[in-house]
Amino acid sequence: MTTFLTSLTERATQPAVGVGSPRIEAWDKVTGRAPYAVDHPVPGAAYAWVVQSTVARGVVHDVDTSRALAEEGVLGVLWHGNAPHLEPVGDPELMVLQSPRIAYRGQVVAVVVATSPEAARGGADLVRVREEGTTADTVLRIDHPALYQPVQVNAGYPARSAIGDVDAGLAEAAVRVDATYHTPAEHHCAMEPHATTAFWEHGCLVVFDSTQASTAARDALAGLFELPPQAVRVVNEHVGGGFGSKGTMKVNTVLAAMAARLVGRPVKLALTRQQLFALAGYRTPTIQRIRLGATAQGRLLAIGHDAVSQTSQLSEFVEQSAVLSRHMYAAPHRLTTHRVVALDVPTPVWMRAPGECPGAFALESAIDELASAGNWDPVRLRIDNEPPVHPEERIPFSSRHLVECLRDGAERFGWSGRDPRPAVRRDGEWLLGTGVAASTYPSITWPSTALARATADQRFDVEVNAADIGTGARTVLRQIAADALDVPAHCVAITVGDSAIGPATVAGGSTGTASWGWAVTKACRLLRERIHRDHGGRVPDGGVAVRADTTLDVRDRPEFSRHAYGAQFCQVRVSTVTGEVRVDRLLGVFAAGRIVNPTTARSQFLGGMTMGLSGALLERSILDPRTGDFVTGDLAAYHVAVNADVPRVEVSWLDEHDPHLNPMGVKGIGEIGIVGTAAAVANAVHHATGIRVRDLPIGLEHLVPRSR
Ligand code: MOS
Repeated sequence: MTTFLTSLTERATQPAVGVGSPRIEAWDKVTGRAPYAVDHPVPGAAYAWVVQSTVARGVVHDVDTSRALAEEGVLGVLWHGNAPHLEPVGDPELMVLQSPRIAYRGQVVAVVVATSPEAARGGADLVRVREEGTTADTVLRIDHPALYQPVQVNAGYPARSAIGDVDAGLAEAAVRVDATYHTPAEHHCAMEPHATTAFWEHGCLVVFDSTQASTAARDALAGLFELPPQAVRVVNEHVGGGFGSKGTMKVNTVLAAMAARLVGRPVKLALTRQQLFALAGYRTPTIQRIRLGATAQGRLLAIGHDAVSQTSQLSEFVEQSAVLSRHMYAAPHRLTTHRVVALDVPTPVWMRAPGECPGAFALESAIDELASAGNWDPVRLRIDNEPPVHPEERIPFSSRHLVECLRDGAERFGWSGRDPRPAVRRDGEWLLGTGVAASTYPSITWPSTALARATADQRFDVEVNAADIGTGARTVLRQIAADALDVPAHCVAITVGDSAIGPATVAGGSTGTASWGWAVTKACRLLRERIHRDHGGRVPDGGVAVRADTTLDVRDRPEFSRHAYGAQFCQVRVSTVTGEVRVDRLLGVFAAGRIVNPTTARSQFLGGMTMGLSGALLERSILDPRTGDFVTGDLAAYHVAVNADVPRVEVSWLDEHDPHLNPMGVKGIGEIGIVGTAAAVANAVHHATGIRVRDLPIGLEHLVPRSR
């Protein structure tokens, strides 16, 4: 018998939440001991290699596998003529090798399985696919005749919202902006590719998968292969980044499971960097028109935000780009719309701050344009249009400290006394400028389950099927568990990344800490109560275990508008000789509820801002309209920011206490850092040069001719 929370168990001397600490698994990662999806040692594993379509729209007439099968080491070739039947589970992308139809360039048309990766790749070169293509429609245009307004956009928002009369508001306005912004397709480029090890054992399917959501992956696999969910186990102990691309299952997982069944042994399938550009999703390009009208005093009368994006022929995916314009600023007249067109392209997918990221580039650039047009300070203009309640839903904000973020950021950045005139600061060949933009991201919580166990030898085991995609999720969950148990963090062992633990939500939508943490808190509190109530505070030899489910807690909450907010400030220099833009300084101030771990939180904000800077200046996936192929299909052609591009990024946050979120008071921080960064950069570029760049990424072509 062990006494719980009295003499034998160490009591916590201070809360674990709020204390910065490095990732629990950091040492394993930097020493190469952390097993990623295809690192797991599996005896007798075979290797799979995909063969992709070379047309964007068409049909596969025949696949000749004879030469591949004759190759030494090749164990089998899957194609639609011999692939196992899959049962639809709602995502048509997953119905791989089920029909001869080709819906986008790079779609998988065959898979070769062999005893080595080299033999599989060699075999893939020998597969002869006879495919016939017809003219493909691959280019998003604002005047595309097939554009339509969907019923809903992503995350379940209505496609359209209208309050008052935007045209009347604009007509009444003293100062107006009407501008159209373009954002490009972007790819996530996580360090670890989409990769899977799969094997079948006594009719059960076991998968080591690089996924942000192993419970959802388990359910999808169970559906596809017509198995009971308990016959499928998905393990994602370590995931090398995802950014949304691993939020929903991709074909690599299905193909590895199919291939393992075909050859009767474990199969490893790691997509190559090049293959990811067609097979792992991307952020849709957008075209967004913003109309703003304000009084002579700088009060917004009208906000119009019309967003256009693309989806595939396979399924409807609608980026919710205009949704943030429903709550950022007050105005009596408001209109947001979304339209989408289905093209012969891969289906877009979630990418860090889907909706808010491209949406904020448009809205926050337009606010800056309005400030210039009205001769108002852009910080002041935002503060003056702060809404007291959600301006469309008329419900209160659970907490909202955008104004404080703007004020604090302006102070830290040294904004006061800024000369608003563009193109007047020069340092040799460089023009200098500063810009500001606001950020936001929803604070969502989804149901999860967690298990807490006390053992007689003073150990606490906490299990929750979180996905730690490099964020520090397991580290912060251990802190949350320690506080709920009232013991020091080192007394708690935390296990994540295994669907066998029990259902839990995706590492996506910045929901993880709130959702998993709530389940962990509930399980740990129940465990404490049970030990005290049933065992007099002493842990019996057999230990005590409690499982908690937050479904009811999460659903039964009062209605609030729950969002994190932030402000980003940027300083740039633009060369008058080359047109090159260098970001010299980025500052982000965020109000995102309680910060559980300052070390890992700072890393998330910093990573988001860095990704935003990368999107502002570098990232663009170029699709060849003749072939439907993303020609920027590797990291030599698709540029992401490197250390030399990111000289000085400062991150801070306000101490925000919000009682309307979850027991921990956390809002979620994985995505807000990217929101607003590109607008802050573009606004600074305008301040430096007088050139308003409305198309991302900001490149030499925008700046060279006029910057001399
Ligand atoms: Mo994030 S794009 O919700 O995984």
